Amino acid sequence: MTAPAVRRADFLMVLAYATDLATGQSRDFALRSCVLAMRIAEAAGFDVDIRRQVYHQALLRYIGCNADTHLLAAALGDEIALRQDLARTDMGDLSELGETIARALKRLLADAPPEVLARAVNEGVAEALHASVPILAGHCEVAKRIAQRIGLSEEIQENLGQLYERWDGHGLPRHLKGDEVKLPVGLVTLAQDVIALNEGHGAEKMAAIIEKRRGGGYEAELADVFLADPERFLEGMDGPVTPETILALEPLPHAVLDEAACEEAYLAIADMVDMRMPFTFGHSRAVAALADAAGRHMGLPASDIRDMRWAAYTHDLGELAVPVSTWMRAGALTARERDAANLHPYHGERALASLGKDGAPVAGLVLRHHERLDGSGYHRYVRGSDLSPAARVLAAAEAFQTAREERPYRPALSGAAAAARLRGAVKGGKLCPDAVEAVLTAAGQPSRREPAERPAGLTPREIEVLRLIAAGHTAKEAAHQLDIAPKTADNHIQNLYSKIGVTTRAAAALYALEHGFLRHGMLPA
Ligand SMILES: [Fe+2]
Ligand SMILES: [Fe+2]
Repeated sequence: MTAPAVRRADFLMVLAYATDLATGQSRDFALRSCVLAMRIAEAAGFDVDIRRQVYHQALLRYIGCNADTHLLAAALGDEIALRQDLARTDMGDLSELGETIARALKRLLADAPPEVLARAVNEGVAEALHASVPILAGHCEVAKRIAQRIGLSEEIQENLGQLYERWDGHGLPRHLKGDEVKLPVGLVTLAQDVIALNEGHGAEKMAAIIEKRRGGGYEAELADVFLADPERFLEGMDGPVTPETILALEPLPHAVLDEAACEEAYLAIADMVDMRMPFTFGHSRAVAALADAAGRHMGLPASDIRDMRWAAYTHDLGELAVPVSTWMRAGALTARERDAANLHPYHGERALASLGKDGAPVAGLVLRHHERLDGSGYHRYVRGSDLSPAARVLAAAEAFQTAREERPYRPALSGAAAAARLRGAVKGGKLCPDAVEAVLTAAGQPSRREPAERPAGLTPREIEVLRLIAAGHTAKEAAHQLDIAPKTADNHIQNLYSKIGVTTRAAAALYALEHGFLRHGMLPA
């Protein structure tokens, strides 16, 4: 089996693509912000250490922001439209922020009576700010943790934990001020504001807004470096950015990932994608475990099994292009929403393109994970002749795991019912019989990721509480399920947070994923 020789920067571009989808930004937004931020850093004469931090901050700024998206969507509706709007908003200007939140509420409550909408808008800004503090704190902790898992330095982790902080102290959640906000954080905020405003308003208005914001979101002298010659800084920035451009910009040394590090990088992507809502939490890991075991059972080559596992970790990355509110809806999707949802394998394949030829087999499997032997799948409607054994196993593992998980429009199926559904698809000529039987055999075996011992000294009861809150339950609901007092559940949460070194639910949930505490069947059956 050939060992991959992938630069870590290749993976950073996959993550950048994913965050562009989730934040509704234009194609290559994060990559263009990287080019611009590096140009400004060079013009400002920053040393290689700062430039390395700027590079990573630009590519990864929003990697923690998928955590708990369902909470954001419940409060403010279509989070992708909201984030697109927020990218052009001066977050330190309460009246501007209020207008952005009012627009989100109008989208969410389009069909509500006028008095309901007016009340929501009146109360919206204060409530939204109050509700957003713990969510944003969770984003910061999750971003730091993902950065740590892909081997980035403590400085880079620290910067990612400050993504919403501002020079003027009006940022969230910690209201850091002046030099407390790391230089690369302010510089990347400036670069991303420039790109978003330039796209939204054109060069002239963009420069005027940056001038107005100098000393607000970012240090005035930093803004002045850019404002000295905006045209030169933005030269050639209106088209796509090639991976080679981004690779060439990375300050030395260039980290190359071995097989184990690639595994961890793919896993980090899986967790980032699946953290958006409770229904998908742990989904990609579970599909990977099933596909891996089924592939071994079928005697597939080791490289096929590895590619299939990595494809399983990333198979639903393209779902980030569709708002959580669409996935969370109990009712049917509109035709347009269905079309957008069915394109997620395309976006997944496209995201992996930066991995080049080493990532091509993985991307090919991602592209095919909803295809069926009779051409009735999506989105290219290919038939069996285009589906390798690995593609067939991945499709069967994905179908089985999805059936075992709860969705807003149906309860989770039992193992027997899910097996019957897959065997029905075999009879209908859609799924491969060998692949389905291998997956069903694998589904009856214990997970290979079962931890050998309890990490962090967590007690069995703390682990039960952790599982429940990771699956999206409140402390009160966890107390009810475990038949203990809410105060006791609260104590368990405080104790386990301190043992695992986190302060937010989102980071605790990520910890639960990382340590194999989540298995299918743990969500309400
Ligand atoms: Fe899936
Ligand atoms: Fe999918």
